[in-house]
Amino acid sequence: MSEHRGIFSSRMGFILTAAGSAVGLGNIWRFPYLAGENGGAAFLFIYLICVFTLCVPVMIGEIAIGRRAGTDAYGSYKKLGGGKWGYLGLFGIAVGIFILSYYNVVAGWAFGYFLEISFGNLLNHQNFGAFFGEYVTNSGTILLFSLGFMVMTAVIVGQGIAAGIEAANKIMMPALYVILIALIIYSLTLPNAMEGLKFYLVPDVGKINTQTIFDGLRQAFFSLSLGMGTLMTYGSYMRKDQNIISSAATISIADTSVAFLAGLMIFPLVFSEGVEPTQGPPLVFIVLPQIFHSMGPILGRFIGGSFFLLLCFAALTSTISLLEVPVAYLVDQKKFSRKRVSWGVALLIFAIGLLSMLSMGQVDFLTKLSFYQDRDFLTFVSDMCDISLTVGGTMMCLFIRYRWKIHNMDEEVALGANGYLQSATRKYLDVTISWICPILLGIMSILIILDKFIGLKVLFGWG
Ligand code: PFF
Repeated sequence: MSEHRGIFSSRMGFILTAAGSAVGLGNIWRFPYLAGENGGAAFLFIYLICVFTLCVPVMIGEIAIGRRAGTDAYGSYKKLGGGKWGYLGLFGIAVGIFILSYYNVVAGWAFGYFLEISFGNLLNHQNFGAFFGEYVTNSGTILLFSLGFMVMTAVIVGQGIAAGIEAANKIMMPALYVILIALIIYSLTLPNAMEGLKFYLVPDVGKINTQTIFDGLRQAFFSLSLGMGTLMTYGSYMRKDQNIISSAATISIADTSVAFLAGLMIFPLVFSEGVEPTQGPPLVFIVLPQIFHSMGPILGRFIGGSFFLLLCFAALTSTISLLEVPVAYLVDQKKFSRKRVSWGVALLIFAIGLLSMLSMGQVDFLTKLSFYQDRDFLTFVSDMCDISLTVGGTMMCLFIRYRWKIHNMDEEVALGANGYLQSATRKYLDVTISWICPILLGIMSILIILDKFIGLKVLFGWG
């Protein structure tokens, strides 16, 4: 089986690739602005609780299902659950397609900014808010950059597991850490850097509310690529003698450390310029270029270029994993050729992404969705996908508990983990997958849906 499907060549290869999926725009673009809006360290604190209590067990469950079944997300649920459970896999695959459709648009912005800062004249501008506004509505440019990004993704996925996906991650992930650390060292030397650190690291507990908790959970699921079958698919290429628990712990720590470090890089920069940290999504595309501009033409080009290159690497290791989910399905279930399917699916997803691309002001009804508080289509898909991830995670726990059965998961996890069956870790995992995760995730998912569509303030008076 493994011969024709492919397999990760080493333990390190699997961990780097799965961490590559996890580390992405979510860590460097979304985490810092969410932390900025939600009281800095207070958000970090909630986020860490979500990661280590709810997400790590879900990740272990997901990898175990994939490795046991040895096939794509649809095939895994079907093989282990029979009957209609395959639909849960299909649901995950569909969510992945929609995530990639908008994710690739934002990745295209990052790619464009990298080129514009490094080789163009972006830093000669004065008003970066206006520049960003014009940039994302310039359909021709964005189309080209997003297409470029999707082509890179398709080329790598088309090469297969070891030669394509693993090899690319083995280069990009270490490069990402090097750039990130160099940027942190630089930003910590700036005037007022300590103010930024204080904002980021001293919790403002008064800022914690229901929204902070929802945002923390959604962000944790998204950031760890959980709930839609990515890690299930990667798990299906994992060797049986590899330890799932330590791998899941390493992936989570790697992902969380990059999010944490991204904040450590961004907040000193933001405070050094006396800019407000609560800028929301444009933080990275408007505020940072302003800061790079003030560094002067040469240093700004170099530091700014490095930053956006970092963002591109992070995004590419994630788009690869997102594309792999439907590709694995078509290769495993329909026996299509990997290369052809990679190109075909990538182009299809690119076409779906046009809806998000054109929702930045070009097409009125996409820019202001009347049924979604006049927000744009990109925000709508991104919100719906986030919700689907927590729903997918809840369903996966129910699947393990009621259909596949906990003891089967334990048996799979025990391979490569000596002493696991007698350990306290096993008890903890059994309780979290059977009770804590499905109950908490289920309740939170319902509340998040109600909040999005009706508003918890309207319903219960809290928000
Ligand atoms: N984890 C990625 C990020 O933080 O940017 C996004 C992502 C990748 C989500 C793969 C889901 C996924 F399956």
